[in-house]
Amino acid sequence: MMLLLVVLFGVASAAKLGVVQTEGGQVEGQSHRMGLFRSVDVFKGVPFADVPGKWEKPKPHPGWSGILKATKYRDRCLQVTLLQTKTQGSEDCLYLNIFVPQGRKLSTNLPVMVYLFGGAFLLGASNDVAILGDSLYDGKELADRGRVIVVTVNYRVGTMGFLSTGDSRLPGNYGLWDQHAAISWVRRNIEAFGGNRDNITIFGQSAGAASVSFQMLSPYSKGLFRRAISQCGVALSPWALQRQPMALTKKIARKVGCWRTDVDEMVTCLKMSDPVGLTMAGKIDVLLILGKGVVMDLLELSPVVDGDFIPDEPSQLFHNAAQFDYLAGINSMDGHFFAGVDVPSINMKNATTVAQVKGLLAGLTKEKGNAAIDSAYSTYTSHWGSVPDQAVVKKTVADIETDFLFLVPTQIALQLHANNTSGARTYSYLFNMKTRIPGFPRWVEAEHAEDLQYLFGKPFSTPLVYFPRHRDLSGYMIAYWTNFARTGDPSNGDSKVPAPWPAFTKYRHPYMIINNKISKSSISYDLRSYYVDYWTKTYSLLPTIKRDQEEEEDTATVY
Ligand SMILES: *[C@@H]1O[C@H](CO)[C@@H](O)[C@H](O)[C@H]1NC(C)=O
Ligand SMILES: *[C@@H]1O[C@H](CO)[C@@H](O)[C@H](O)[C@H]1NC(C)=O
Ligand SMILES: *[C@@H]1O[C@H](CO)[C@@H](O)[C@H](O)[C@H]1NC(C)=O
Ligand SMILES: *[C@@H]1O[C@H](CO)[C@@H](O)[C@H](O)[C@H]1NC(C)=O
Repeated sequence: MMLLLVVLFGVASAAKLGVVQTEGGQVEGQSHRMGLFRSVDVFKGVPFADVPGKWEKPKPHPGWSGILKATKYRDRCLQVTLLQTKTQGSEDCLYLNIFVPQGRKLSTNLPVMVYLFGGAFLLGASNDVAILGDSLYDGKELADRGRVIVVTVNYRVGTMGFLSTGDSRLPGNYGLWDQHAAISWVRRNIEAFGGNRDNITIFGQSAGAASVSFQMLSPYSKGLFRRAISQCGVALSPWALQRQPMALTKKIARKVGCWRTDVDEMVTCLKMSDPVGLTMAGKIDVLLILGKGVVMDLLELSPVVDGDFIPDEPSQLFHNAAQFDYLAGINSMDGHFFAGVDVPSINMKNATTVAQVKGLLAGLTKEKGNAAIDSAYSTYTSHWGSVPDQAVVKKTVADIETDFLFLVPTQIALQLHANNTSGARTYSYLFNMKTRIPGFPRWVEAEHAEDLQYLFGKPFSTPLVYFPRHRDLSGYMIAYWTNFARTGDPSNGDSKVPAPWPAFTKYRHPYMIINNKISKSSISYDLRSYYVDYWTKTYSLLPTIKRDQEEEEDTATVY
């Protein structure tokens, strides 16, 4: 009996890739057993570009001789730590990781999913947030359960990834070029790993989701990938684009002692400055805005319209996106974290006052002045009644930030995509699984980033900290996402789904409500259209109050 078991065990192992030949040289990963005749080959730290020059586009890697042992994650790109007291990471950071599912026979022709991490264009890495062992973005469960190759990539962030003068001196968008280089590397090399180069889906969350959107809008992506998924962020999100890059660059120059009246001299000085100092100068200072602004204003180092990778305003580039199938959605309380910084009382016993709600609206709508505060206030309080319950008031604050930062821009992006495509498909969702974060008020649903643990299969890889309902949800998300990567339709593919997900079109706007109980009645229509209409029609027609931030910055520096 024992012998039989040993024999069975020996035979029951899955195929493995061993050494793989890439354009730069040979790489060897590690095979991880997932079950009977099932394993995942993992390649960590594969270079997709050379060490980049400061504020330069990524360059091809020169290659290596011998076998590169791809068994350890490489450094994240240089960035401030979460507490922003110091930096971590390195300038030598352009690496990616590959997860290839295997069965009895070596996999071939698999769909490929390339993940772009989030972190406000300021933080994050392809192997971010390791809490219980593996990174949150470890691709093994998603690859194994969905039978897809998962690739997670690094890109430059913060000052080193996005500083821009708004002209040819420092055009900006280096982090977006890194993403482009990584996706291009995957297209050139993934066949050797068993992938189908014509079946690449890019996906990402938050700043990674906005990045996905920028990659779709760039003319450089023509034919590069086939599908895209944005989870909680699009290029139209108000935090995703820096419209005054020179003012920001001057501010950072001042912090590192490089401010000069002559911009060429200033740039020369910045180029000679220490990358660690420059990175620290790009940190966000939450204390600065407490009481006089909104946290959104602090997310400054982001992509720009550079006339090249992003040749025009994002809303003018959707003809480029029309070739890709697109799936996009938001979490029901994506804005809760931001709301809690801007209006702390919503998470406390303290009452949230009318003045606080109006203060938040004033901060978000300052380009339109007082008229906007009043119209937005009456729109958001029309359901309050004369003596509103505090839970209603507090939830309204979270809704305002969710709508403004995530929901409305995502609905516009979905519409522009659906209106422009001929043939490619569009899908919309709302993720509203109740939060697992302890200590939040009862009205809090799905907080920003809570979708990721389910997509990356954490309820399966760390079962003790989850319940069966979390595994149900995780299985549903993996099925829809990987079906979409395989066929362009989340309901069709190798994985069974609990209910069909109808496409979002020019004239009909269905969305799937994603939680642990998905059924036919999980399809709803016209997500928060009353509020979407307010922001896209009434609000956007209000006159903009011109304020020349750059001028303000300049006068402030005459010392
Ligand atoms: C993408 O993969 C699916 C499933 O493997 C396959 O049916 C389809 O033909 C592939 N598409 C292309 C363009 O190769
Ligand atoms: C298609 O996209 C362009 C931007 O590229 C946009 O201006 C236009 O409104 C869109 N067309 C439709 C029919 O929505
Ligand atoms: C909350 O209430 C307490 C006690 O009434 C008060 O001391 C505190 O300043 C309040 N906090 C806020 C943010 O309003
Ligand atoms: C998309 O097209 C529909 C139907 O013509 C139109 O009502 C809607 O405003 C368009 N959306 C955008 C964002 O242009």
